[in-house]
Amino acid sequence: MINIDLKGKRALVTGASSGIGEAIAHALAQAGADVAVNYLADPAGRNAANAEQVAASLRQVGVRAATLAADIADAGEVEKMFTQIDSTFGGIDILVNNAGIDGVAARCWESNPDDWYRVIQINLFGAYHCAREALKRMTTARHGVIVNISSVHESIPWSGYSAYTCSKAALTMLTQTLAQETADLGVRVVGVAPGAIKTEINEAVWNDPDMLRDLLRKIPANRMGKPEEIGRMVALLASDMASYVTGPSVLVDGGMVLYPSFRHGG
Ligand code: BGC
Repeated sequence: MINIDLKGKRALVTGASSGIGEAIAHALAQAGADVAVNYLADPAGRNAANAEQVAASLRQVGVRAATLAADIADAGEVEKMFTQIDSTFGGIDILVNNAGIDGVAARCWESNPDDWYRVIQINLFGAYHCAREALKRMTTARHGVIVNISSVHESIPWSGYSAYTCSKAALTMLTQTLAQETADLGVRVVGVAPGAIKTEINEAVWNDPDMLRDLLRKIPANRMGKPEEIGRMVALLASDMASYVTGPSVLVDGGMVLYPSFRHGG
């Protein structure tokens, strides 16, 4: 049967209170999975409120949903979050390492080390902390899938964002290495590399007609992606439809990495 069926699977999506993470949570729930919505607590409580809203709409689909605050950059907080997942869901079948930030735009020599470290701490160390906890459980259960959300910038350099590009290139190597470590233990580890997906993270670009025009020149498909286009790919890869897929980072980018400037001439 060709069917994306995640009924009874228990998933954790990091950074799921907004953007791509929220869309991934929805796609997993639509395929039948219970979903834990991780978010980073902020003083104004905005992320907590958004996470609650996301969880409420997941429950409407008929699955279980929980919200879990944790700064994934902190190994101790991640350990606690997984203990909460154990007690709420009784285990974990799918981890989606989605939480990430672009960081502050600054060329290397003008950057602040603390800003640089924070990007790596969230995008790379955060994924490592969550994978470590998930794999303790998944390798014991001999069953599970990890999906790491990378970016086209795992391979495309991006001036002003050296921490981001480094974090994503490293995340992709983490995907491959963990896939190799776990391939004979019933666990799959895959990546999804989005291009320019229309969310809050790049609002400054799509809100400005000149910047948007410049961006679209970089996308052969001539449009930005939709968060649900990432969600669907994650659900597919997390399902048994992809039972023999482990290690790759799947580009979902409308062709952004295809050297669009070579469409004409060369
Ligand atoms: C970034 C976005 C950017 C896109 C394409 C993503 O990884 O988070 O801000 O629009 O790459 O450059």
